[in-house]
Amino acid sequence: MYSKINEKAIKEWWDSASEYYQEEISADKMVDVQYGPFASSEKKLKLLGNVKGKKVLELGCGGGQVSISLAKKGAICTGIDISANQIRIAEKNAKKENVNVKFLQIPFSRLYKLKQEKFNIVIGVMSLQYCTDLKSLIKNIKDLLVNNGIFVFSIEHPFYLLIDPNDLKITESYFGSGLVIKREKWPDGSTHYFNYYNHKISDIINLIIDSDLRLERVIEPFEREDKIWGAGYRRALVNKIAPTIIFKCKKINSNKN
Ligand SMILES: C[S@@+](CC[C@H](N)C(=O)[O-])C[C@H]1O[C@@H](n2cnc3c(N)ncnc32)[C@H](O)[C@@H]1O
Repeated sequence: MYSKINEKAIKEWWDSASEYYQEEISADKMVDVQYGPFASSEKKLKLLGNVKGKKVLELGCGGGQVSISLAKKGAICTGIDISANQIRIAEKNAKKENVNVKFLQIPFSRLYKLKQEKFNIVIGVMSLQYCTDLKSLIKNIKDLLVNNGIFVFSIEHPFYLLIDPNDLKITESYFGSGLVIKREKWPDGSTHYFNYYNHKISDIINLIIDSDLRLERVIEPFEREDKIWGAGYRRALVNKIAPTIIFKCKKINSNKN
């Protein structure tokens, strides 16, 4: 469907950016799941239900804050991430917060490594936009879920990403390839490539439908305040379009377990 970027480039960016990214993140993120910029938290949205004793897999866990917040509520969490540096920070955070979470350096393309396990919940907060093959990933997620298992993920809202935050003009085509490559020059003079996909909403919904997961809810939350992620987000744009979109799916009626 889209031209490809490879995971090596994605890993390089996240290994390099990890420290800076984590500096921006508030400790509140380890108290409750925060679904994204100007999005609501799990306490308000109640997408996961009671997680006590539930097996949870977090995709693209970064510093592990989502898993840590769920582990504090009694969930048995595994967090995976492509970046060794992010995983290192996640392990440090879990230790500091005194919770037990299994963190593994596994890229989305190798999710099959977990195929011996089954999860009640799979969650990805602001990470699936970096996935190079969303179709395969969703299929693999379905295989890892128990019957009635829940898959919730948030990504940046595709409309939000089309608009220039400075003059609020539409700069990209919604009908483009979906692949965005941004060349960045960092203060130390090094050059890095920030890659992600801006999928159309219909493409994501159709991938879910084709995977046989049941789409239960699509949420375009809008909170007026954001103390957790908000710093880099322009108020004028945020007032017009939600920066985050959330999808909740369920695995139903499968005999495969
Ligand atoms: C924006 S961060 C979000 C991190 C975390 N979920 C949070 O809420 O702060 C995206 C994360 O996805 C990870 N990621 C990107 N591509 C990945 C891939 N192919 N496999 C596994 N993790 C990936 C990155 O390393 C990064 O930690």
